[in-house]
Amino acid sequence: MMDIWTTLASRQTAIVDRPILALFEDPDRAAQFSAQTGDMLLDYSKTNMDADTRADLVRLAETAQIAARREAMFAGDTINQTEGRAVLHTALRNLDGAPVLVEGRDVMPGILNTLARMEKFAKAIRDSAVTDVVNIGIGGSDLGPAMAVQALAPYHDGPRCHFVSNVDGAHIADTLRGLNAKTTLVIVASKTFTTIETMTNARTARAWLTDHGGDPKRQFAALSSAVDKTTEFGIDADSVFGFEDWVGGRYSVWGPIGLSLMIAIGPEAFRAFLRGGQAMDTHFRAAEPLENVPMMLALTGIWHAQICGYPTRAVLPYDERLGQLPDYLQQLEMESNGKSTRMDGSASPHPTGPIVWGAAGTNGQHAFYQLIHQGTHVVPCEFLVAAQGHEADLAHHHQLLLANCLAQSEALMRGRHLDEARRLMKAKGLSGDEMERQAAHRVFPGNRPSTTLIYPMLDPFTLGQIIALYEHRVFVEGVILGINSYDQWGVELGKELATSLQTIIEGTQSVETKDPSTAQLVAYIHRHNT
Ligand code: F6P
Repeated sequence: MMDIWTTLASRQTAIVDRPILALFEDPDRAAQFSAQTGDMLLDYSKTNMDADTRADLVRLAETAQIAARREAMFAGDTINQTEGRAVLHTALRNLDGAPVLVEGRDVMPGILNTLARMEKFAKAIRDSAVTDVVNIGIGGSDLGPAMAVQALAPYHDGPRCHFVSNVDGAHIADTLRGLNAKTTLVIVASKTFTTIETMTNARTARAWLTDHGGDPKRQFAALSSAVDKTTEFGIDADSVFGFEDWVGGRYSVWGPIGLSLMIAIGPEAFRAFLRGGQAMDTHFRAAEPLENVPMMLALTGIWHAQICGYPTRAVLPYDERLGQLPDYLQQLEMESNGKSTRMDGSASPHPTGPIVWGAAGTNGQHAFYQLIHQGTHVVPCEFLVAAQGHEADLAHHHQLLLANCLAQSEALMRGRHLDEARRLMKAKGLSGDEMERQAAHRVFPGNRPSTTLIYPMLDPFTLGQIIALYEHRVFVEGVILGINSYDQWGVELGKELATSLQTIIEGTQSVETKDPSTAQLVAYIHRHNT
C-alpha cells in the first residue's frame, strides 16, 4: 500500500490543472469546506483540496497521533524533548484553574497568583501618574504585546505603550525622546534576562531615567523566568513577575510578558483575551477534525507547503490594527517549524515550515499583490477580516475594506482568461496586433488558493482566539512533520559569532581568525568609524 505522503503527492499531480472554481459545482462546497468555532468561521473552500484529499490529510494527522500528542501537551508532558521541557502556554489561559501537573506538581496556583499580582500592579499603574510605559524586549518578549496592543487600540484606556526591541540605538533614542522620565514606567521583558539587545537597552533606559530625574527603583518592572537576575539588575521584587521555563518566548504573551497589554487595556479586557485563547483550546481538544478550525488551517498549510510545494504563505489581515500580525506569525511559525532535523534526529524528508510574510490589506494590494496575481510563484493567501469595524461613524470605510478583501480571494481564484482580456481591450478601441499585445499582459492565471478567517469584530476575546488558533496550527503542522516546534537552536550560532565580532569591531581582538569578506567589512568599519 502507498504511504499517505505518496498518495497525497499523486492526488496533487492529478488535480494540478483543475480549476478551483469547478469544485463549486457542488452547491455545498463552501459550507463543507469551512469550519467554525463560536462566531469565528474559517473558509478554506477556495483551495484545490477536495474531499478525498482532505480525508488523506486527516489520515496523515491521525497517523502522526495528533490527538495523543495534543493531550500530552495539555497534560504537561515533556514534549519539548531537545530542551527537556513541558510546553504549557495553555496553562496561562486556563482561567478555571483545573489542575495542570508538571512532574507531579500543580502549576495552576502559581499561575493564578502571578495573574492576580499582575492585575494589582496594572491597576495601580493605571490609577497612578504614569503616562507612558516602555516595554523593552525582543522576539517573543516584544512581538506579542506590541502586536496585541495595536490590535486592541479601541480598548486602550491606560497609559501610552511603547516598544523597544532593536539594539540599534536609534530605536531607544527615538522612543525615549519626548517622554517624561518622571512619569514613565520601564518594563524589562526577557525570559532569560541575558538577551544582549534587551539588557543593553535596559541599561540605557536606566541611565536615561536617572539622568532625567526618574527613580529606577520605583519605575522599573521585570518579566522573566530568571528572577535572580532581575534582583541583580536592581529591580524591586514587588515589580518582578516570573514565569516558568515551559512557557516558550513566542508563546508568552498570555502571562507576565503581556503586562504592557494588561496596563493598556485593563485587567478585565486582558481576562477576555485569555478567555478567547482558552475557548480555542477547548475547541481544539474537543472538535472532530473536519470541524476543528486549527486542525483544518494546519492541514490546508500542509497541503500547500508540503504537498503542492508552495514555499511561502502570505498572511493578509484586512485590519489595520492587525498590521503587526504577519511579523508576530513570522516568529511563531518560522522559529517553531523552520527546522531540518526531526525529533528522532533524522533529516526531514519533506520541506518544513514555509516562509511566512504579509501585510495589512489594503496596503499590500498596492505593493506586492501584483506578484501574487500574475507572478510565476503561487502564494497561498490567508485573509483575515472582521464583519464589523469599531468606527461606527465610518461604516462605509469598513464596507469598502470588506469588499476589497472578498474581491482579492475571488480574483485569485477566478483569474481572467485571454478571451476576456481581449474583449476588454476591444471595448477600449484596440484591435489587431496591438490588442493582442496588450491583452497578454492583462491575463490573470487564477486558480490561486486562499483561506479566509472571518469573525464579528476584533475584540480582546477574538484576538485571543486568533493567536491560540495559530499556535495550535503550528503544533499540528509540527507533529505531522515530526519536528520539535518548541526549541530554536537556529538562532544560537549568530548570537555566538556576534559576541566574538563585538571585540573585533571594538578593536580589542584581531580580525585574523575571520574570513576575508568579514575582514574586509571590519576594515571598512574601522576606516569610517573615526
Ligand atoms: O530569538 C531567540 C529568542 O530566544 C526567542 O525565542 C525569544 O523570544 C527571544 O530570543 C527573546 O528572549 P528573551 O525573552 O529571553 O530575552
